[in-house]
Amino acid sequence: MLRTHSCGELTKKNEGKKVTLVGWVKTLRVQGKVSFLLLRDRDGITQCFLNDELTKKTSDITPESVVLVEGKVKVRPDKQIRKDIKTGEIEIETSKIEIISKAEVPLPIEVEEETTTHIDKRVDNRFLDLRRDKVNAIFRVRSKIAQHTVEFFSKEGFVNINSPKLTESGVESGAEEFKLPYFKKTASLAQSPQVYKQMFVISGLERVYEIGTVFRAEKSHTTRHLTEFTGIDMEMGFIENEHDVMDVVENYFKYLLTEVSKSCKEELELLKVKLNVPKKIPRLDISEIRKILKEKKKNIPEDDDLDAEAEKLLSEYVKEKYKCDFVFALNYPWKKRPFYHMRPENNPKGTRSFDLIYNGVEIGTGAQREHRLEILEKQAKEKGIDLKKMKFYRDIFRFGAPPHGGVGLGLDRITEQLLNLDNIREAILLPRDPERLTP
Ligand code: 4AD
Ligand code: MG
Repeated sequence: MLRTHSCGELTKKNEGKKVTLVGWVKTLRVQGKVSFLLLRDRDGITQCFLNDELTKKTSDITPESVVLVEGKVKVRPDKQIRKDIKTGEIEIETSKIEIISKAEVPLPIEVEEETTTHIDKRVDNRFLDLRRDKVNAIFRVRSKIAQHTVEFFSKEGFVNINSPKLTESGVESGAEEFKLPYFKKTASLAQSPQVYKQMFVISGLERVYEIGTVFRAEKSHTTRHLTEFTGIDMEMGFIENEHDVMDVVENYFKYLLTEVSKSCKEELELLKVKLNVPKKIPRLDISEIRKILKEKKKNIPEDDDLDAEAEKLLSEYVKEKYKCDFVFALNYPWKKRPFYHMRPENNPKGTRSFDLIYNGVEIGTGAQREHRLEILEKQAKEKGIDLKKMKFYRDIFRFGAPPHGGVGLGLDRITEQLLNLDNIREAILLPRDPERLTP
């Protein structure tokens, strides 16, 4: 490797040691004949002192250039300890500096921690935007969320699957598909792994999960919709009802928030986020929610979904009453849910379904599925779908199908809500929406 140490690694204990650091120039401050260079890499920032000779040589270094610094670790006097950086108790007495790659001026966006540059322009220059510690931190947390998700589902005996993204057609009513030429046919990009996760539960794996890309040709311009996002989907067999699925989802979020609090301490501090691990997530029937919302002057007709405003109001209510950032909304109207949902015996207008709302935004939708072929066919017909045309899906229910259910969550939305970000675009490296296909 080019370096002996990272920029966040050195302490008093390394005093006198000869080291080589490489990174980006954060700032170069000339003070009379000498200068101070702040060198940054993924681990932190180190101050490098340049004497007059080196200062003369480096007068053309530009911010964000990549440089290599060789020198000796020097302990700073107590009074001069820099509290603003991790390695504030030391600095490097530079003996050699080499420019590896010079950055052009001016930079297309500023890379200061606090910036007012619009998210669109920042995404246009995402590779530079990520040089900012706070932005970088978001993606370190996202990566940990994905890691703890894998830990949790493997611990619970779920098998990780990868289902096709090139498909014949989807089952998520309401969600539009992207069509593309596929040799002599037209293919659709998968808008959820729904049919496949059911298939592999029934096939005998019993418990499956997938973290994968989901495509939705939605023309929405909101702070919560993307046309390409990462789904966290799971499906499980031999359930008694949808509450068994909710139990797993609840345990997942308890585990996730506890583990992220531990593994992302520095990042959460930097982003000023304090996580509130749920003890018990309230489960409220949609009819009850309608009453709660009515008192808040928000009317949701009987056959309707909760809209964004309703979700926000509901979250506020739950936060106040139950001190919880999460809430399950149960029993969504049959009219609004796809045909594969199971309906409660005593209420054909409802479904054995739930949404999970986190700090005012839906992050998950789940349900018990209909596994009895006769009823499933009737339900498909009611929704104007001919199951005979979806032969491979119909067939999975013909040779022994356990009662089952599952949930679809969004990694981007979980990251957005967990970190209190104001736009889903902050939580994904390169967002895709109706206007954006690059970079
Ligand atoms: O609510 P959705 O559409 O549900 C399904 O896909 C079902 N197959 C789930 C199931 O197992 N029954 O999508 C699931 C989750 C949403 O709650 C949200 O977190 C995320 O996927 N999601 C989106 N995220 C970003 N942009 C979009 N356009 C999204 N659409 C859904
Ligand atoms: Mg949903």
